[in-house]
Amino acid sequence: MESEVPGNQRPNLTEQKKNACYLAKQKGLIKLSFLPAPHGGSLIERYEPGYDIASVKGEISIDRIALSDLELIGTGVLSPLTGFLGKKDYETVLDSMRLTDGTVWPIPITLPVSEETANFLREGGVYKLTCENDVYGVIEVSEWYRPDLEQEAVRVYKTNELAHPGVARLFKRGPVYVAGDITLVKKQDRGIFRDVWFEPKETRAIFQSKGWKTIVGFQTRNPIHRAHEYIQKAALETVDGLFVHPLVGETKADDIPADVRLKSYRTLLKNYYPRERVHLGVYPAAMRYAGPREAVFHAIARKNFGCTHFIVGRDHAGVGNYYGTYDAQLIFGEFTEEELGIKPMFFEHSFFCKKCDGMASEKTCPHGKEDRVILSGTKVREMLRNGVLPPPTFSRKEVAAILIDGLKTKLNV
Ligand code: ADX
Repeated sequence: MESEVPGNQRPNLTEQKKNACYLAKQKGLIKLSFLPAPHGGSLIERYEPGYDIASVKGEISIDRIALSDLELIGTGVLSPLTGFLGKKDYETVLDSMRLTDGTVWPIPITLPVSEETANFLREGGVYKLTCENDVYGVIEVSEWYRPDLEQEAVRVYKTNELAHPGVARLFKRGPVYVAGDITLVKKQDRGIFRDVWFEPKETRAIFQSKGWKTIVGFQTRNPIHRAHEYIQKAALETVDGLFVHPLVGETKADDIPADVRLKSYRTLLKNYYPRERVHLGVYPAAMRYAGPREAVFHAIARKNFGCTHFIVGRDHAGVGNYYGTYDAQLIFGEFTEEELGIKPMFFEHSFFCKKCDGMASEKTCPHGKEDRVILSGTKVREMLRNGVLPPPTFSRKEVAAILIDGLKTKLNV
């Protein structure tokens, strides 16, 4: 299976990671890194598997989203965060998309708990962070506060409608936010993502060992269709490497499951991408569906993984009609290149045009709507669930076949 991933092909994962990291380290001694500095200046590392958990008595039970955030913080994906946000940082993030020290930060990373849990908290207290009976971390509680969820919804998601999946989830989680620095003591089981689950320090070492100076990151929560492939390859024309980095954390129920998608990514990359120019990894974060703000958040996380560039196409991280087609591109205008530290690469809505007889976009195609193959995500998911292949002008046939098969197994039909 591993050998099917271009650029990721090495005899076995542990060896693969070890070799790449070792090589990069060796080279690092004599070679300057061209990779961007992590956000805020240094890569945060708060993983201590040997932490004396037995000495910690109190316990806070966390959900799977907080668990994923805990690990993202602990492994530096969310550098410079060292824990869950305190009230002041939370407020400046909502107001101005910045932490109190001015660092750009568009999405509040918070730890919601129930009133019942909040009642037993003690300022300065250390508590285990437990999910489904396993201890994954500890938090040193600096404070806790009651957020104005209406305000958070409107600021982050631009709506307070419960039909928005991010807003619905926001209101469902606890009414009190606990803040404080964390230590990660146990990492989640990597499961089927084992060979493609890389932490920032690993991807940085890998990119460096490949000699890549410019790397474009690509976020997706979907199978890769022809338009995705088109913009990825257009980007790859001008940079050294492409980091295909699908999100595999929590998504809404009707999105295609990550395990099915992974199979399709492997096949697509094997058949249509240049091995030595592409690296596949998974991004174990929850999807927020926060459109523009999440696009900036996605870019910052990929900078921490070592990317110099980041693809933002049409309606990035959008859902329904909550955001304008290019809002997620416009938002980057609110920051300077220096404070962001990663260059967004913008792409117009792309499609297959029958008259051009190839992929194109509004920018390059002179023909009319009737010549363009444009299918909504909902429509495609419906076709796949019904076992109907989308046209090859929309999706590579190998990809569609894997998706149909994978969904059939899931739905037991
Ligand atoms: S999401 O993570 O942004 O929600 P999605 O798979 O829909 O995932 O999109 C991945 C990336 O491709 C985003 O940057 C999005 O803007 C871009 N994109 C998706 N479809 C198109 C398209 N037809 N034309 C141009 N860009 C697209």
